[in-house]
Amino acid sequence: MSKTLIVFGSTTGNTETVGDDIAKILEKNGHNVTVVNAASVTVENMAEGYDCVFLGSSTWGDDDIELQDDFVPVFENLERAGLSGKRVAVFGCGDSSYTHFCGAVDAIEEKAEQLGAVLLGDSLKIDGDPDSGEVASWVESVLASM
Ligand SMILES: Cc1cc2nc3c(=O)[nH]c(=O)nc-3n(C[C@H](O)[C@H](O)[C@H](O)COP(=O)(O)O)c2cc1C
Repeated sequence: MSKTLIVFGSTTGNTETVGDDIAKILEKNGHNVTVVNAASVTVENMAEGYDCVFLGSSTWGDDDIELQDDFVPVFENLERAGLSGKRVAVFGCGDSSYTHFCGAVDAIEEKAEQLGAVLLGDSLKIDGDPDSGEVASWVESVLASM
Protein backbone atom coordinates (compact mmCIF):
# COMPACT_ATOMS: atom_id res chain seq x y z
CA MET A 1 0.00 0.00 0.00
CA SER A 2 1.35 3.40 -1.01
CA LYS A 3 1.76 5.92 1.80
CA THR A 4 0.80 9.51 0.95
CA LEU A 5 1.12 12.71 2.93
CA ILE A 6 -1.10 15.74 2.21
CA VAL A 7 -0.08 19.06 3.77
CA PHE A 8 -2.40 22.00 3.19
CA GLY A 9 -2.58 25.68 4.17
CA SER A 10 -6.07 27.18 4.05
CA THR A 11 -7.59 30.34 5.50
CA THR A 12 -11.27 30.08 4.57
CA GLY A 13 -11.38 26.30 4.13
CA ASN A 14 -11.28 25.96 0.34
CA THR A 15 -7.86 24.34 0.02
CA GLU A 16 -8.65 22.21 3.07
CA THR A 17 -11.77 20.91 1.28
CA VAL A 18 -9.67 20.09 -1.78
CA GLY A 19 -7.10 18.29 0.39
CA ASP A 20 -9.85 16.22 2.00
CA ASP A 21 -11.35 15.36 -1.41
CA ILE A 22 -7.92 14.30 -2.68
CA ALA A 23 -7.48 12.10 0.40
CA LYS A 24 -10.83 10.37 -0.12
CA ILE A 25 -10.06 9.56 -3.75
CA LEU A 26 -6.56 8.31 -2.97
CA GLU A 27 -7.94 6.12 -0.17
CA LYS A 28 -10.49 4.65 -2.58
CA ASN A 29 -7.51 3.80 -4.79
CA GLY A 30 -5.76 1.94 -1.99
CA HIS A 31 -3.46 4.63 -0.65
CA ASN A 32 -2.80 5.04 3.03
CA VAL A 33 -3.26 8.83 3.43
CA THR A 34 -2.31 11.25 6.19
CA VAL A 35 -3.73 14.79 5.95
CA VAL A 36 -2.01 17.49 8.02
CA ASN A 37 -2.79 21.18 8.38
CA ALA A 38 0.32 23.28 7.67
CA ALA A 39 -0.41 25.08 10.96
CA SER A 40 0.57 21.97 12.90
CA VAL A 41 3.03 20.09 10.69
CA THR A 42 6.66 19.46 11.65
CA VAL A 43 8.57 20.27 8.47
CA GLU A 44 11.84 18.58 9.46
CA ASN A 45 11.90 15.27 7.53
CA MET A 46 8.13 15.42 7.05
CA ALA A 47 8.32 13.39 3.83
CA GLU A 48 10.20 10.53 5.49
CA GLY A 49 8.31 7.24 5.24
CA TYR A 50 5.94 8.50 2.51
CA ASP A 51 5.94 7.46 -1.13
CA CYS A 52 4.18 10.64 -2.28
CA VAL A 53 3.60 14.11 -0.88
CA PHE A 54 0.80 16.47 -1.90
CA LEU A 55 1.40 20.14 -1.03
CA GLY A 56 -1.50 22.61 -1.10
CA SER A 57 -1.74 26.34 -0.43
CA SER A 58 -4.09 29.13 -1.39
CA THR A 59 -2.66 32.42 -2.67
CA TRP A 60 -2.94 35.83 -0.99
CA GLY A 61 -1.47 39.26 -1.52
CA ASP A 62 -2.14 41.50 -4.45
CA ASP A 63 0.86 42.86 -6.33
CA ASP A 64 3.11 40.24 -4.73
CA ILE A 65 2.50 36.52 -4.40
CA GLU A 66 1.81 35.58 -0.81
CA LEU A 67 1.41 32.01 0.32
CA GLN A 68 -1.32 31.18 2.80
CA ASP A 69 -0.09 32.24 6.27
CA ASP A 70 0.25 28.75 7.78
CA PHE A 71 2.04 27.46 4.70
CA VAL A 72 4.74 30.17 4.81
CA PRO A 73 6.95 28.38 7.41
CA VAL A 74 6.52 25.11 5.50
CA PHE A 75 7.67 26.81 2.30
CA GLU A 76 10.57 28.57 4.01
CA ASN A 77 11.84 25.29 5.50
CA LEU A 78 11.01 23.05 2.56
CA GLU A 79 14.67 22.11 2.06
CA ARG A 80 14.48 20.31 5.42
CA ALA A 81 11.41 18.27 4.46
CA GLY A 82 13.28 15.51 2.63
CA LEU A 83 11.67 16.00 -0.78
CA SER A 84 14.66 14.96 -2.91
CA GLY A 85 13.63 12.05 -5.13
CA LYS A 86 10.13 12.11 -3.64
CA ARG A 87 7.02 12.11 -5.84
CA VAL A 88 5.25 15.41 -5.26
CA ALA A 89 1.96 16.93 -6.47
CA VAL A 90 0.91 20.53 -5.84
CA PHE A 91 -2.57 22.04 -5.54
CA GLY A 92 -4.29 25.18 -4.33
CA CYS A 93 -7.23 27.51 -4.59
CA GLY A 94 -7.16 31.04 -5.94
CA ASP A 95 -9.08 33.59 -7.92
CA SER A 96 -8.23 34.39 -11.53
CA SER A 97 -9.25 38.03 -11.09
CA TYR A 98 -5.91 38.53 -9.24
CA THR A 99 -2.70 39.23 -11.13
CA HIS A 100 -0.96 36.07 -9.91
CA PHE A 101 -3.60 33.38 -10.20
CA CYS A 102 -2.60 30.58 -7.80
CA GLY A 103 0.90 32.06 -7.61
CA ALA A 104 1.53 30.04 -4.43
CA VAL A 105 1.08 26.82 -6.39
CA ASP A 106 3.68 27.94 -8.94
CA ALA A 107 6.11 28.97 -6.18
CA ILE A 108 5.77 25.64 -4.33
CA GLU A 109 6.10 23.66 -7.53
CA GLU A 110 9.25 25.55 -8.52
CA LYS A 111 10.87 25.14 -5.11
CA ALA A 112 9.98 21.44 -4.85
CA GLU A 113 11.51 20.83 -8.26
CA GLN A 114 14.68 22.75 -7.27
CA LEU A 115 14.90 20.48 -4.23
CA GLY A 116 14.89 17.37 -6.42
CA ALA A 117 11.26 16.33 -6.09
CA VAL A 118 9.70 14.41 -8.98
CA LEU A 119 6.57 16.34 -9.92
CA LEU A 120 3.53 14.20 -10.70
CA GLY A 121 2.16 16.02 -13.74
CA ASP A 122 0.60 19.46 -13.80
CA SER A 123 -0.51 21.14 -10.59
CA LEU A 124 -4.18 21.70 -9.71
CA LYS A 125 -5.28 25.36 -9.63
CA ILE A 126 -8.87 25.86 -8.55
CA ASP A 127 -10.53 29.12 -9.57
CA GLY A 128 -13.18 30.05 -6.99
CA ASP A 129 -15.07 27.46 -5.00
CA PRO A 130 -13.68 23.92 -5.09
CA ASP A 131 -15.31 21.66 -7.66
CA SER A 132 -15.21 17.99 -6.68
CA GLY A 133 -15.38 16.86 -10.33
CA GLU A 134 -12.34 18.95 -11.22
CA VAL A 135 -10.49 17.56 -8.21
CA ALA A 136 -11.42 13.97 -9.10
CA SER A 137 -10.20 14.22 -12.68
CA TRP A 138 -6.94 15.81 -11.54
CA VAL A 139 -6.31 13.08 -8.96
CA GLU A 140 -6.96 10.47 -11.65
CA SER A 141 -4.32 12.10 -13.86
CA VAL A 142 -1.88 12.15 -10.93
CA LEU A 143 -2.58 8.49 -10.19
CA ALA A 144 -1.93 7.67 -13.84
CA SER A 145 1.51 9.30 -13.65
CA MET A 146 2.56 7.45 -10.48
C1 LIG B 1 -7.04 39.87 0.04
C2 LIG B 1 -7.04 38.68 -0.89
C3 LIG B 1 -5.98 38.48 -1.74
C4 LIG B 1 -5.97 37.39 -2.64
N1 LIG B 1 -4.92 37.25 -3.51
C5 LIG B 1 -4.96 36.26 -4.45
C6 LIG B 1 -3.94 36.13 -5.43
O1 LIG B 1 -2.98 36.90 -5.49
N2 LIG B 1 -4.04 35.12 -6.32
C7 LIG B 1 -5.07 34.24 -6.34
O2 LIG B 1 -5.12 33.36 -7.19
N3 LIG B 1 -6.08 34.33 -5.41
C8 LIG B 1 -6.06 35.32 -4.47
N4 LIG B 1 -7.05 35.43 -3.54
C9 LIG B 1 -8.16 34.43 -3.55
C10 LIG B 1 -7.99 33.30 -2.52
O3 LIG B 1 -6.79 32.58 -2.74
C11 LIG B 1 -9.20 32.35 -2.66
O4 LIG B 1 -10.31 32.99 -2.04
C12 LIG B 1 -9.01 30.97 -2.11
O5 LIG B 1 -10.14 30.17 -2.44
C13 LIG B 1 -8.81 30.92 -0.61
O6 LIG B 1 -8.53 29.60 -0.28
P1 LIG B 1 -8.44 29.07 1.23
O7 LIG B 1 -9.82 29.12 1.80
O8 LIG B 1 -7.97 27.67 1.10
O9 LIG B 1 -7.48 29.93 1.97
C14 LIG B 1 -7.06 36.49 -2.64
C15 LIG B 1 -8.15 36.70 -1.76
C16 LIG B 1 -8.15 37.79 -0.91
C17 LIG B 1 -9.33 37.99 0.00
